Amino acid sequence: MNALLIVDDLHVRFSGSHGGTVHALNGVHLHVRAGEVLGILGESGSGKSTLAKSLLRILPKNAEISRGAMTFEGRNLLQLSEREMNELRGARLAMIPQDPGLSLNPVMKVGDQITEVLRAHCNSDAHRRRVHAEDILQRLLPGNAGRSMYEAYPHQLSGGQQQRVVIAQALACEPTLIVADEPTAALDAATEAEILEVFRELKAERRRSFILITHDPTILRELTDRVAVMYAGRVVEQGPTQQILTHPRHPYVKGLLACLLPQDDLRIPGRKLRTIAGAPPDPRGTASGCNFFPRCSERIERCESAHPGTQGAREDSQVECFLYE
Ligand SMILES: Nc1ncnc2c1ncn2[C@@H]1O[C@H](COP(=O)(O)OP(=O)(O)OP(=O)(O)O)[C@@H](O)[C@H]1O
Ligand code: SF4
Ligand SMILES: [Mg+2]
Repeated sequence: MNALLIVDDLHVRFSGSHGGTVHALNGVHLHVRAGEVLGILGESGSGKSTLAKSLLRILPKNAEISRGAMTFEGRNLLQLSEREMNELRGARLAMIPQDPGLSLNPVMKVGDQITEVLRAHCNSDAHRRRVHAEDILQRLLPGNAGRSMYEAYPHQLSGGQQQRVVIAQALACEPTLIVADEPTAALDAATEAEILEVFRELKAERRRSFILITHDPTILRELTDRVAVMYAGRVVEQGPTQQILTHPRHPYVKGLLACLLPQDDLRIPGRKLRTIAGAPPDPRGTASGCNFFPRCSERIERCESAHPGTQGAREDSQVECFLYE
């Protein structure tokens, strides 16, 4: 398969401050093709940000990638030296983090924060770097706001403007893959709509691939080509977006989408959003059977003691459940 990125059986664990071990990723398989937008959906704690940070190898010190492979442009990221990873980050592989306000340097002009990325990864002189940074800001900000923003400090910008600066940083060196971790989660509805328009334009260009982490089915529907749904550190179902949103197969995915998709009965005053009964498994333990077993309304006898197999990282469409073997 001609994929830009292949993640194979990725396991990540965190050592806890009280001696326990958190199993955050428990065998993730997925792939991203050139020009494709892969959406990642999953409830809080399912391992989405851990996956994003693993890809860029920016996990905190108490994390360990204990098993698996991540092959990007034909190279196993786990076998690259720190220097090689530094060359790759920003240049070929970039990230738009969950909170733009936290990722910008508060004492540095935003234009300089973009030229920093260019200086580190792209071979050009100071004048060209400045022109390039202004051009990207200009493109991402309507009217003349882009050029005047070059001299601004992050605290002088709105949340939407900060998010555009972070997107500009990610785009600066034309990476082939951008991992965006809930890029609109911290924004109000109007600003979210503006940022989504930016993503729509970037997608239409088809010049780069995206992994787009989101809780929002509207974003998935509009912006992604395929969706991978995570539960308890595994991808339990993935496939073309339309197929996942309209005909999900895995019982967890069916339940999650029933909670997330707009429902007519929500308009009835006092009616609450449906949620899947029960809670995800404790990530400090390891289950012998299917992780979703305690919450699954379709479970069969073998689900308690055996784990359903995966079809691997290379399949475009797969579901990890005994009902579909
Ligand atoms: N630095 C850390 N130390 C210990 N455990 C961690 C650390 N970071 C994440 N975890 C744990 O790893 C698991 C996966 O967390 P992660 O942040 O990847 O989830 P997520 O799907 O991104 O959630 P959210 O939707 O809330 O952002 C959780 O159980 C979380 O508590
Ligand atoms: S394997 Fe069994 S418990 Fe797990 S999701 Fe499928 S039916 Fe439910
Ligand atoms: Mg997260």
